Amino acid sequence: MATERLIAATPQTTDQEWAGPTLRPDSMDEYIGQADLLEKLEIAIEAAKARATGNVADGIARPHEPLEHVLLHGPPGLGKTTLAHVIAREMGTKLITTSGPALARGNDLVAALTRLQPGDVLFIDEIHRMPIAVEEFIYPAMEDFKIDVTVDTGMHARTVQIKCKPFTLIGATTRAGLLSAPLRSRFGITHHLRYYSRDDLRVILHRSCRVMGLLAVEEACLEAISARSRGTPRIANRLLRRVRDFAQVRAKGVVSESLVETALGLEGVDELGLDDLDRNYLRTIATVYDGGPVGLETVAATMNEDSGTLEDVVEPYLLQIGFLARTRRGRMLTRAAAEHLGIAWNPEREGEMLGG
Ligand SMILES: Nc1ncnc2c1ncn2[C@@H]1O[C@H](COP(=O)(O)OP(=O)(O)OP(=O)(O)O)[C@@H](O)[C@H]1O
Ligand SMILES: [Mg+2]
Repeated sequence: MATERLIAATPQTTDQEWAGPTLRPDSMDEYIGQADLLEKLEIAIEAAKARATGNVADGIARPHEPLEHVLLHGPPGLGKTTLAHVIAREMGTKLITTSGPALARGNDLVAALTRLQPGDVLFIDEIHRMPIAVEEFIYPAMEDFKIDVTVDTGMHARTVQIKCKPFTLIGATTRAGLLSAPLRSRFGITHHLRYYSRDDLRVILHRSCRVMGLLAVEEACLEAISARSRGTPRIANRLLRRVRDFAQVRAKGVVSESLVETALGLEGVDELGLDDLDRNYLRTIATVYDGGPVGLETVAATMNEDSGTLEDVVEPYLLQIGFLARTRRGRMLTRAAAEHLGIAWNPEREGEMLGG
């Protein structure tokens, strides 16, 4: 089982995202890409700040109208947590972090909400894992900054209303589809983060090189790393760290294009960022099932892999780069995948895929 993959988008134990010089940008200027989202946020932040100080047409300060609640969704490693920190910093407020699973009972939410000062940001990671019971507590908090809690039990039970300070909720999730419609509708700004272009990833890598003290790394090297990063900054930074280690031990710290290839080749990562597990999966469909269509469970059984793992961590990227097609009759290899693997391609396939 491949639990630790170099090209996994989810955090890995070797990432040290919180240790050493942090690669996490902490201001809007340093946050690369996602331009449309940043523009929306910049406007909202500026407007909220102006309202708070009364710097608006009527001159009346409205500190009770903080930044609207923000919902960020998208694949792992694209910068949702980072952006929550950036927003709090730009607003000049504190960020309090919790997560869906950590909010097991209504009381957990009350505890978090009562810690907030006016304008603070409450960040709930994996918000799709918040229990339904807690979700109901959060509606009045999001709308009117109050919470209804039940105290005592039995015949003495009564509801007390607790007021909390005006705050901004930032929810992050990789599975927006699992969020209930009422919860989703209470966010003022909802945005899907997209995979990064190679150009954006190169800019991110540039900054990371600077932070890590890697000087004079050629553009071609960064290009090679970004091509292998699956559109994901977390992966880009992880590959860069691996390249840095390799250069330090084998090449007196000098990073060259061929060194990038050797270092990442050693880890089984090819020029598109596919690793052994990806290639195994594609080859199984190609050779054992003649290119498909074949059911996911069948492929998983052949590979002795867990079908959930394949669906969550292997297929999304292969679908995104057009190496895999999901048809009603099962998974099929595409021509691009066959070419990448150097496998003969039967043109009749194309028709079958369109037929579905
Ligand atoms: N826009 C960006 N500019 C520069 N670096 C970025 C950007 N987005 C993400 N990163 C880098 O990628 C790393 C991972 O980002 P982050 O932890 O914010 O992802 P996430 O979307 O919260 O992932 P998850 O869904 O796993 O929680 C960060 O530590 C940072 O180094
Ligand atoms: Mg995160």
